[in-house]
Amino acid sequence: MRAIILKDKLQALEEVEFEKPKPTADEVLVKLYAAAFNHRDLWIQKGQYAGLKFPIILGSDGCGNIEAVGSNIPNHLIGKDVIINPSIAWGNNEKAQSKTYKILGLPDNGTFAEYVTVPATNIHEKPAHLSYEEAAALPLGGLTAFRALFSRAKCQAEDKVLVTGAGGGVALFAIQFALAAGAQVYVTSGSQEKISKAIELGVKGGENYKNEDWYKNLKIAATGFDVIVDSAAGEGFEKLVDLANPGATIVFYGGTTGNINNLNPQKIFWKQLNILGSTMGSNSDFNSMLQFVSKHKIKPVIDKVFSLERAQQGLERMAQKEQFGKIVLKIA
Ligand SMILES: NC(=O)c1ccc[n+]([C@@H]2O[C@H](COP(=O)([O-])OP(=O)(O)OC[C@H]3O[C@@H](n4cnc5c(N)ncnc54)[C@H](OP(=O)(O)O)[C@@H]3O)[C@@H](O)[C@H]2O)c1
Repeated sequence: MRAIILKDKLQALEEVEFEKPKPTADEVLVKLYAAAFNHRDLWIQKGQYAGLKFPIILGSDGCGNIEAVGSNIPNHLIGKDVIINPSIAWGNNEKAQSKTYKILGLPDNGTFAEYVTVPATNIHEKPAHLSYEEAAALPLGGLTAFRALFSRAKCQAEDKVLVTGAGGGVALFAIQFALAAGAQVYVTSGSQEKISKAIELGVKGGENYKNEDWYKNLKIAATGFDVIVDSAAGEGFEKLVDLANPGATIVFYGGTTGNINNLNPQKIFWKQLNILGSTMGSNSDFNSMLQFVSKHKIKPVIDKVFSLERAQQGLERMAQKEQFGKIVLKIA
């Protein structure tokens, strides 16, 4: 099969001929139609991710058709169009993942290939209102945003929500989900153009985080937030505490700009704030996310579609922070 491999850290992605995988007893073999990038793929290429292993076929997101099943899996699944939940072996505890938890695309080979094998429990019917490219864009980002926003932060219709970094894959799902839930949504971004695009989606307003007064301007525009969804962390996180209403929840799932070294404990306890971490999601989160997306007919925002052999260009686009939404690979 054709596959895109990363031979080592700091290397370019390369198209190669690779042995077609065979499903084990509890797995299915998926012929992939489309895959999508996540920032995780870039961290791995940069060598900044735990448990690195090379060579590796990257890719956590995928949509395709079941071509074969393992001996424990019913044959009637063959021929079905599916999307893949990349959250493997979460376990039975809704509060946190198990010790054997892993994400598709490292340590196991991922979706930047013509075929992938995954546990049958991680296969879900493709939502009917989505194209193959849209469906491939949904799993990792949609799952992460859904758990952060609803399972963790308990976002409700009456909430005022701030999502930082509007152009990101996960952030855009958080924006779309919060809007669909009826919340008033504001954003930050490093680009005025991306803020304008977010406003077209329905957000009330936004500020450029590169502007020194971004948080003051947001405070004037929105007064304060009940739920804040962040992936940047770093120095700017302190300002999120200032922007939070008393009793608010700040949930973060990334640390793109580094450690948080400057938090004032008094502000956090006096305001009765909840500061929560969130990662990926359970099977139940994934099912709820799919139901929510189908009910509200949400379509992932696709930034650009590249052919499989141009995967390196997709990763470069992400590294340059050019994207607004998901970068997708068309495979078949
Ligand atoms: N824990 C988990 O389960 C999980 C799951 C998914 C992702 N993540 C992490 O979350 C982060 C985003 O992932 P992604 O796949 O959505 O990436 P992505 O599509 O590449 O987006 C990058 C994001 O970073 C934002 N950003 C960059 N510099 C920023 C700054 N100084 N302040 C605020 N935002 C800034 C960008 O905002 P603009 O483009 O609008 O400027 C954009 O939202 C990554 O660190 C990733 O590793 C974690």
